[in-house]
Amino acid sequence: MKVLVVGAGGREHALVWKLHQSKMVKKIYSAPGNAGISQLGECVDIKLDDLKGLADFAQRKSLDLTVVGPELPLTLGIVDEFVKRGLKIFGPSKKAAEIEGSKAFAKEFMKKYHIPTASFKIFDDKDKALDFLSEAPFPLVVKADGLAGGKGCIPVENFSQAEDAIRKTMVEKIFKEAGSRIIVEDFLEGEEVTIMAFTDGKTIIPMFPSQDHKRIYDGDAGPNTGGMGAYAPTHFVDERLMKKIYDEVLEPTIFGLEREGRIFKGILYAGLMLTEIGPKVMEFNCRFGDPETQVVLPLLKNDLVEILFSVIEGELELESVKWKDAFAVCVILASAGYPGKYEKGKEIFGLAKVENDALIFHAGTKLENGKFKTDGGRVLGVTGVDSSLEKAGSKAYLAVDRIRFDGMQFRRDISRKGMKVKGRYF
Ligand code: AMP
Ligand code: GLY
Repeated sequence: MKVLVVGAGGREHALVWKLHQSKMVKKIYSAPGNAGISQLGECVDIKLDDLKGLADFAQRKSLDLTVVGPELPLTLGIVDEFVKRGLKIFGPSKKAAEIEGSKAFAKEFMKKYHIPTASFKIFDDKDKALDFLSEAPFPLVVKADGLAGGKGCIPVENFSQAEDAIRKTMVEKIFKEAGSRIIVEDFLEGEEVTIMAFTDGKTIIPMFPSQDHKRIYDGDAGPNTGGMGAYAPTHFVDERLMKKIYDEVLEPTIFGLEREGRIFKGILYAGLMLTEIGPKVMEFNCRFGDPETQVVLPLLKNDLVEILFSVIEGELELESVKWKDAFAVCVILASAGYPGKYEKGKEIFGLAKVENDALIFHAGTKLENGKFKTDGGRVLGVTGVDSSLEKAGSKAYLAVDRIRFDGMQFRRDISRKGMKVKGRYF
C-alpha cells in the first residue's frame, strides 16, 4: 500500500512513524514533509493549499490512502476534491471542517445543540463590539473567527485591553481576514485538556485524554504558542468525566453535525476547560492535535491504517481501539524568539545519541549536506514512553539534555501538572 501524509510538522512525523510500522504500508510520501519524515519516506514539494496538485499526485502515483494533518487543506476542501476523483482520503469534508474553520459557526452550533461552552457574542462591526465591551463584565477573551494557528485568542481584563485586542484583530488585522469577524466570550478558568476521537460519523471512539502546554514559559507564563509539550493519559479526566464528555460534547456534536448535513469523518478534537461547573468546549479542531498526537500515537496498540480505513468506509467498531498500559511525555524544542520572530539554519547536535532512548519527531527541520538544521519555530518534539508519567518525563528530559542547537528553548515542567493527581484512570 502507498500512503501520502499531508503536512510538515511533528504531528505528521508521528503519523508517518506510526504508519511506517504497519505491515500493509510499503511506501510513504509526505507533502511537503520535513527532514525527519525524509528518513522514513519520500518528501514531495507540493504546498498544503494546492489541493489540485495534491490530488493529481495521488492519482499519478495510484496512492491507496492520503492522511491530512493540518486544518488548512481540510477547511479548503481537500477531502471533497479527493472524493470527487474516487481517491481514498482520511479527514472531514469542507462542510464538516467548518467546526474548526469558523469559530462563529462552532459557537452557534454549540448553542443550538446545547453543548457546554462559554457564553459569547459575535461581531462583524468593531463599533458594536466596543459598545458591548464598554458595559461587559471582565475578564473576557476576544477571538478571531477564522484560522489563526492557535494564537487567535486574546484574554482581556479590562476595557482598555479589550480595545487594544479589537484594534489588533479588526483594524490592524494581525490575523488577516480571520479577524474580520470576532467572538467575545467569557474567560474560563480550570484545567485545560484535549480529547481527540476517531469517528466515522456514527461511532465515536475517544483516544487517551491528553494535556497540551500552550504557553511559552514554565508555570504557564508568557504568550500562547502552538504548544510547547504534552502528555497522555492525563489523570484530570477519569472514566466518569470521560463519559460526561462523551454524552455532553462528543455525541451531540457528531449527531448535530449529521443533522446539519455535515457528516463528520476523521478526528474530532475537543479543547476543553474543566471548570468548577463541568467541562466546557473552548475550541473544536477537525484533525489530530499537535503536539498531542506525538504522545497519543505512541500509546496506540492498533495498526493505524486499519482504523483509518474503517473510518473512511464508515465501519468503525466500538471496542476496536486498544491502548498500551503506559504514559508518554513530549517536550518541544523551539527556536530562539518563538512564538515571535525566530532564527533558522542552526545546526542540531546530539540526535544520534538519543535515538534509542526517546522518540524524536521533527517539526521545523531541514537536511543540508547531511546535517540537520533548524527551519521553523517549533523544531523537534522529544517523546519519552514508560510505565509511569514520572518515568516517561525523565526519559524525555534525559534525551532533551543531550540535544542542542543555538538558542534552543523548551519548558522544564511538561507533565508536572499531571503528577499532582495520583492514580491512574485509563
Ligand atoms: P482557541 O483560539 O479557541 O483555539 O484557543 C486557544 C487557547 O486560548 C486555548 O487553548 C486556551 O488556552 C485559551 N482560551 C480559549 N478560549 C478561552 C476562554 N473562553 N477562556 C480562557 N481561555 C481560553
Ligand atoms: N495542540 C493544539 C492544536 O493542535 O490545535
